Amino acid sequence: MYKIFDTVDEVSLYTAQRLLEKIKAAPSAVMGLATGSTMEPVYAQLLGALQQSPVDLSQLTTFNLDEYIGLSAEHPQSYNYYMCQHLFNQLNIPKHNIHLPDGLASDIEAACLAYSNAIQTMGGMDLQLLGIGSNGHIGFNEPQTCFNSRTHVVELSEQTRIDNGRFFVEQSEVPTLAITMGIKDILEAKEIILVATGRNKTDIMAQLFSSEIDERLPASALKQHSNLTIVLDREAAALLPEQAFKNAV
Ligand code: F6R
Repeated sequence: MYKIFDTVDEVSLYTAQRLLEKIKAAPSAVMGLATGSTMEPVYAQLLGALQQSPVDLSQLTTFNLDEYIGLSAEHPQSYNYYMCQHLFNQLNIPKHNIHLPDGLASDIEAACLAYSNAIQTMGGMDLQLLGIGSNGHIGFNEPQTCFNSRTHVVELSEQTRIDNGRFFVEQSEVPTLAITMGIKDILEAKEIILVATGRNKTDIMAQLFSSEIDERLPASALKQHSNLTIVLDREAAALLPEQAFKNAV
């Protein structure tokens, strides 16, 4: 299902409200969270809503999608740092309920396995929030990732390193490796919300719309999911055919 809004603000408000509804309906929900520019206004809206009308988050569990290998939680470009800045520092989610892949784990393979197992032990995500890379990645599952994958180490594509270079002082500082939740972990979420905004996402959203389910376009795996909402602003939706707008708001 597509939801298409005029502005990023509207996209973010809608998405934040969906998260909030889920939390209110199920205080012990398991949420899959994403980072990146797209999520910043979503989290800002969520914080704003929670400030106006506080909700007890003490039973909530979160699992983040991904983390760079080699960056500590204190590194300003690590996803751990991002989540603390944009969300966790302002919320009362117990620390032990917050999960991010550990990019400094001494045994990375064991850490990946433990991460997937922890997600499965919790019964999978009730709601998974996703952004999308300009190359169609979800989490850091780059093109050609097996759709059967669990949490694993990934070599970041050149496109992703270039896209994410904007967050680093020098392009050479962008890590080459990351840990990502696998596509299978993502698909096992009971509900998925994919958010894309801005001109950088126009082409990939058009490709995704017309694509078959194909490992060359990781986000196409989501077409198998029975409870997927794709939330776009007008810019990201600019090249979608009329049909996409039929059931959209
Ligand atoms: C981040 C993540 C990535 C981003 C994607 C879009 O945790 O999983 O898939 O969602 O790279 O990033 P932005 O929003 O910065 O364009």
